[in-house]
Amino acid sequence: RDTFERVRSAFGAGEPVLIHDFDDREGETDLVYPAAAVDPAAVARMRNDAGGLVCVALADDVANALSLPFMDDVLDHPATAAHDLAYDSRSSFSFTVNHRDSFTGITDRDRAMTISRLAPVAESARAGDYDADDFGNEFRAPGHVHLLRGAPNLLSDRQGHTELGLALADEVDLPPAVVVCEMLDDQSGSALSVAAARDYATRHDLAFIDGDSLLDELA
Ligand code: 5RP
Ligand code: ZN
Ligand code: CA
Ligand code: ZN
Repeated sequence: RDTFERVRSAFGAGEPVLIHDFDDREGETDLVYPAAAVDPAAVARMRNDAGGLVCVALADDVANALSLPFMDDVLDHPATAAHDLAYDSRSSFSFTVNHRDSFTGITDRDRAMTISRLAPVAESARAGDYDADDFGNEFRAPGHVHLLRGAPNLLSDRQGHTELGLALADEVDLPPAVVVCEMLDDQSGSALSVAAARDYATRHDLAFIDGDSLLDELA
């Protein structure tokens, strides 16, 4: 409960939080930010301290309003034929984008611009004031920020970091655009252990929570 309150207030204030999913799922801890709070220093922290893939999860209604498909639904290639993930029934990947004002799209500044703009975009799309054409005028694909689509009923449908992060954003009334990046171990290259992720959180004064605690509070 105290842990959840800390996560709630930190995330609501635009600070990153650490979310471990489940030992019997990915068994990974993601560094998670509200998209609006991402500046170049936050992108630097994700690539240096987390080390995984920087992705922005958008809610299902937002993805529909913007015509953002699941990648495997639109790629007509044998590699997308079977949904045989070891840890879930399907992945939440859509395609990749760059903000049109970015240059290559990969720099901390470019990615921060792409990511932070997705917050007001998600809010406007949810309100019906921003559509796929508006999105195409502002973003180009392919790009350097991975978009993810949340399941329609969030945690009742799927319990990935995608849905855990989006449910947390709903809880604190932030726009349905949430950045997730896996914490990897620099030495072994494996997912960072829960103990090491908790230690990182303590050292940097960040909140850490696991999926079971989040499900208790949000599902
Ligand atoms: C994208 C991923 C990460 O695991 C991310 O946490 C989102 O996926 P999921 O919702 O399946 O946990 O694979 O880098
Ligand atoms: Zn994953
Ligand atoms: Ca590192
Ligand atoms: Zn994940």
